[in-house]
Amino acid sequence: MQEQIFLNGSFVSRTDAKVSIMDRGFLFGDGVYELIPVYNGKPFLLDKHLSRLNKSLTLIEMKNNLSDDLEIEKIVNEVIHKNKFKDHFIYIQITRGTHTDRQHVYQSVIEPTVLVMGQFSKAYTADEIKKGFRATIHEDYRWRRANIKSISLLGNVLLKNHAAKKGMYETILIHNDKVTEGSASNIFIVNNNVVYTPKLGNELLSGVTRSLILDLLKKNKYLVEESDVTKEQVMSADEIWCSSSTSPIAPITEIDGKVIKEGTAGTVTLETHKLVTEFIGKF
Ligand code: PDD
Repeated sequence: MQEQIFLNGSFVSRTDAKVSIMDRGFLFGDGVYELIPVYNGKPFLLDKHLSRLNKSLTLIEMKNNLSDDLEIEKIVNEVIHKNKFKDHFIYIQITRGTHTDRQHVYQSVIEPTVLVMGQFSKAYTADEIKKGFRATIHEDYRWRRANIKSISLLGNVLLKNHAAKKGMYETILIHNDKVTEGSASNIFIVNNNVVYTPKLGNELLSGVTRSLILDLLKKNKYLVEESDVTKEQVMSADEIWCSSSTSPIAPITEIDGKVIKEGTAGTVTLETHKLVTEFIGKF
């Protein structure tokens, strides 16, 4: 059976799904999205993702609680069950919908375009995690509303490819000498056994994985601080990792040619990876 996706009220096969060229998502990148891991057939922390989706929709002046009105939770579960997804992720995209003309100003009443689909996701092996990944640093030139999970991802795409072209995993972004986040992840560093991550604001996404990690670390009596993290602190850190729904803990063991400590994932990184893996296992 062809994979079934949800588009504007119906289930269709992925190849048959079509969206108008007048959709504001296509013309302006005018929409928001969520990416939700599916572990063993269950959407992970779905409530947290849907509450962030509602927040993004509110921030782009679409209707409050639109994701509830659209019954996104029910649709996500249907997509998982229809396709018997086990280890996948679910991608939700809601755009402001279709206008008759291309115009920046949006009408107040407009039918959103709603897409829910899945994709297979392969977790990193224990060896890959231990070895870690390489990263590069770049100025964060994206717009200053990175707290909105907007589908306008050109900045993130260019910055991720900046790393990929060098065979690296991630680009760590710096604005005003402070780390904001990665091009597709949040950033954590460890110094003298204290875990630091940039505090939330308009410059970075409030990652669902970030918040899970902070909770688990605090519950397990680690010292954690949400504070400014400078470029210098990153370069002299004992340990660094990136967090995201696609790879909860991705250790960084080299930045722009500088090897971090022993050049393999550090102790706190591996302990955090274990805490998250156990949490997912119990989920
Ligand atoms: N992105 N910051 C950015 C810019 C991101 O794109 C992501 C994840 C995160 C981490 O958020 P979370 O833990 O909620 O996944 C932070 C997803 C995976 C993506 O766009 O593919």
